[in-house]
Amino acid sequence: MKDIFVCPEESNFYSNCLENFVIRNSKNHASVVEFGSGDGSPVINSLLRNKFDGVIRGFELNASAWKVANSTIDEYDLGNKYVIYNSCLFESSKPEADYLVANPPYLPAPDQDIYMPLLFGGIDGATVTNKLLSLGYENVLVLVSSYSNPESTIQQAQENGYSVNNFVVLPLKFGYYSSEPKVKKHIEELRKHGMAYYSGDYYFLAGVLFKKSQKSAIDLSNELAQVMTSL
Ligand SMILES: C[S@@+](CC[C@H](N)C(=O)[O-])C[C@H]1O[C@@H](n2cnc3c(N)ncnc32)[C@H](O)[C@@H]1O
Repeated sequence: MKDIFVCPEESNFYSNCLENFVIRNSKNHASVVEFGSGDGSPVINSLLRNKFDGVIRGFELNASAWKVANSTIDEYDLGNKYVIYNSCLFESSKPEADYLVANPPYLPAPDQDIYMPLLFGGIDGATVTNKLLSLGYENVLVLVSSYSNPESTIQQAQENGYSVNNFVVLPLKFGYYSSEPKVKKHIEELRKHGMAYYSGDYYFLAGVLFKKSQKSAIDLSNELAQVMTSL
């Protein structure tokens, strides 16, 4: 199990965001694609707490996590609502869906030789997140970290025609993965260049719902940028 992502506080936050911004907010039969399902617990917990008649298709590269997710899906008989592929979304023929959702890999580091290489988010931590905002999905729910060049994500979203429809922010303590000395040192460097924001042991993790803009739509991009750079 040691090679499966474990951070209950973060996974629960992601699960709550899914519930509030997608599952309860959408038509009951919405289609959802998930990047990086991990052990599947965030989606499974949301499905167990809510009525949802849509289908969620997850992509998870880590075979151990994928196996655990599938056995929990079987245990709760959720196979008709949550299907996970042991492959990479970027390399698949991307399924059409109303929503793309992810708690993506967002660790910044000089290279991917870190405790868990699949959590590597590129040099500034925002590479995978920003790529997810280039796939053309109408609605994208992603977790955005204040130490992973959050302004680049907001800018990338705007350039691709998204506005920030809603967001919620959780102060989180640096955990096992982000406290790895190589990662922490790199984050300290990024901070000097205005690409990472944190205060003491704490950073902000935001659950953000990006929506392809329509005229007169709500846009909370400035508010999100202000909060994420306030530490
Ligand atoms: C931060 S974890 C989130 C896991 C789970 N969604 C949660 O919140 O508990 C990110 C997940 O993305 C997976 N991942 C990384 N790169 C991937 C890729 N290219 N395709 C599919 N999954 C990937 C990792 O293995 C990891 O399980």
